[in-house]
Amino acid sequence: MDPKRRRVLLATAALLATTSGAIAVASTAEAATTLGASAAEKGRYFGTAVAAYKLSDSTYSGILNREFNSVTPENEMKWDATEPTQGSFSYGSADQIVARAKSIGAKVRGHALAWHSQQPGWAQNLSGTALRNAMLNHVTQVATHYKGQIDSWDVVNEAFADGGSGARRDSNLQRTGNDWIEVAFRAARAADPAAKLCYNDYNTDGQNAKSNAVFAMVQDFKARGVPIDCVGFQSHFNSQSPLPSDYQANLQRFANLGVDVQITELDIEGSGTAQANSYASAVRACLAVTRCNGITVWGIRDSDSWRASGTPLLFDGSGNKKAAYTAALDALNGGTTTPPPTTTSPPPPTTTTPPPPTGDGCTATVSLNQWTGGFVATVKVTAGSARINGWTAGLTLSSGSSVTNSWNATASGSSGAVSFSNVAYNGGVNAGGSTEFGFQGTGTGPATATCTSR
Ligand code: G3I
Repeated sequence: MDPKRRRVLLATAALLATTSGAIAVASTAEAATTLGASAAEKGRYFGTAVAAYKLSDSTYSGILNREFNSVTPENEMKWDATEPTQGSFSYGSADQIVARAKSIGAKVRGHALAWHSQQPGWAQNLSGTALRNAMLNHVTQVATHYKGQIDSWDVVNEAFADGGSGARRDSNLQRTGNDWIEVAFRAARAADPAAKLCYNDYNTDGQNAKSNAVFAMVQDFKARGVPIDCVGFQSHFNSQSPLPSDYQANLQRFANLGVDVQITELDIEGSGTAQANSYASAVRACLAVTRCNGITVWGIRDSDSWRASGTPLLFDGSGNKKAAYTAALDALNGGTTTPPPTTTSPPPPTTTTPPPPTGDGCTATVSLNQWTGGFVATVKVTAGSARINGWTAGLTLSSGSSVTNSWNATASGSSGAVSFSNVAYNGGVNAGGSTEFGFQGTGTGPATATCTSR
């Protein structure tokens, strides 16, 4: 620009800025220039999968530090990495990623506590109670190690079968009993009550038999008080499995169940405008769903991808921004300004029907998951032949055992004779109906419980 014209423009801009508040605001409201900063303006995060061994690569690290405000260890928090020998935990690589996240002010998505894949050899060889207890101990130990440092945990990954059956995936974990998912969630909640607990899967991005089955599970968990806060949609797309036209609607129907939704492993094979448009659509779908609180891409450069030949990411192999990057950033900058809620779960529904008169008692049964040195107890309180309006379950812990955490009940005492009373939302139980609470402890868990009602 010629210097004279530039001086005139600058003078005009200065005059407008001093004479019009509106113009002064507009001139400072520049679009964010990185994915993380733009997502943060919308109350969301934009993250990436990270491999610890790449942190020393300056191109990789430069992009990570500049662009992203959430990280997911790509392999380092998986069972084979964190517990290569039973009972012996190894956190070095995952700790490195968590330290980097802290130093750049990024959140951490923990991935993944319980999964049929990437199990250490010793776990692959277990079954039944031994595997169930090993899995619960793993969940407890790893979630405890990272307590307070994880924004969201993929507690259970990929537990449903592909295709139209809507069934659970057959696996050694599934063969320990259908309740393996909920006990994993309960153990994770007990170990790190502040982390959001997610179920994560692929091919669930649109409405289909598999996502319907996950939907039914989440609905059931919410109804029974199983602690679940979020659902992860992996979103690995290519020409055989493109971004579905009902992506946003599917995210929304899960959000309507009272959970957050997150795009957890986004990558879209392709190139040029077609790929860019798909990225923009994915970002817009998340922004349009109030409870979609973050997007994670599954790697930084195309060459970092688990399917590098499909060039599915936002940066090329040299670290240059692709058209897909610009489209994703533009979509973020043009997105809704409605921030998602910060709470992990909505309050449970309140009843408007006044409670009928006090009933005639209750019973309590204990289901115990015990491992060496610790346990998770799930207690089912069942009303007798009339409705009850409150309950207290009594249990006796053996010498040296104690309660460390409980959920869906108020605990009194932590060793010896302990009792658990209903909280505000689960005291009323109809005749013959039941409700559940749970607690975790060290030592040996009790096998029986008494129940008194109000
Ligand atoms: O670390 C070893 C190395 O020592 C060895 O020389 C090399 C030889 O193959 O393997 C290296 O381990 C590989 C590891 O990635 C680290 O690069 C494993 O073989 C390989 O199987 C592993 O692949 C990971 C895959 O999960 C395993 O299931 C991918 O990196 C990772 O991107 C991918 O991520 C999954 C999510 O966890 C769940 N959703 C699907 C997603 C894509 O498959």
